[in-house]
Amino acid sequence: MEVVVRPHAGAATDLVARLIQRAVRQKPDLTLGLATGRTMEALYAKLVEDYAQGGTDYSCVTTFNLDEYIGLPPSHECSYRTYMQRHLFDRVNVRPENTHVPDGMAENTEVACARYEAMIATVGGIDLQLLGIGRTGHIGFNEPLSAMFSRTRAKALTPETMAQNRPLFPDPAMMPHRAITMGVGTILDAKRCLLLVTGAEKSGVVARAIEGPVTSMVSATALQMHPHCTVVLDEAAADGLSQKDYYYWLFENEPEWSEFR
Ligand code: GLP
Repeated sequence: MEVVVRPHAGAATDLVARLIQRAVRQKPDLTLGLATGRTMEALYAKLVEDYAQGGTDYSCVTTFNLDEYIGLPPSHECSYRTYMQRHLFDRVNVRPENTHVPDGMAENTEVACARYEAMIATVGGIDLQLLGIGRTGHIGFNEPLSAMFSRTRAKALTPETMAQNRPLFPDPAMMPHRAITMGVGTILDAKRCLLLVTGAEKSGVVARAIEGPVTSMVSATALQMHPHCTVVLDEAAADGLSQKDYYYWLFENEPEWSEFR
């Protein structure tokens, strides 16, 4: 795992945007795993800004989102499909048929999940998986007790996650209690993982995810087992890390990801 700390949220987000843009330029038919949440809104705004200025071309990129609420149709204002259309897909030249979000309305969730896994496999797997982290330490919606080898499946949301995301629903009672999420194993299969976390309220869970013992109670700890995982933080999110000076030194002197050299 490589940990990169930037002075503030804007700089951390900017770095992740540049890494994604470079990855797409290097491999125009990149398969990109995408995340949702408030943190990603600022990131997608930067990708859109770069695109609008004639930057990156997404016409050959394929995307797979991590998760979707069960029971929300794609057109629902709070679905992750709508989120993605609003913040990215409608604003860059990615082909609609190349974008994938799990089907939260599938009649048979198990079949839909297996199909999602098969689609990822068909394109040769995910090249770069973008990730955020929830307050419970989840990646995607892999809540506590998510098996390290889990695949795309339905997962019940914890009360903490419900509380974190409920304000995003105009009618809080409308928030589903379950979601389809790529599994921890699905995420670990990505060739590279890129976790972006900003803000002081995440510093505790970030420290557990990076420096704590690997446990299914904090699914982000699974990233410690990934051979190519880069974590980009702002100072506030990095505040709970005990080895911060070492991470700074490593990044300055022996960066892992070739993009940093
Ligand atoms: C949701 C998503 C996660 C994301 C998290 C972070 O729970 N399922 O993939 O990491 O939100 O959200 P935020 O950036 O709003 O803190």
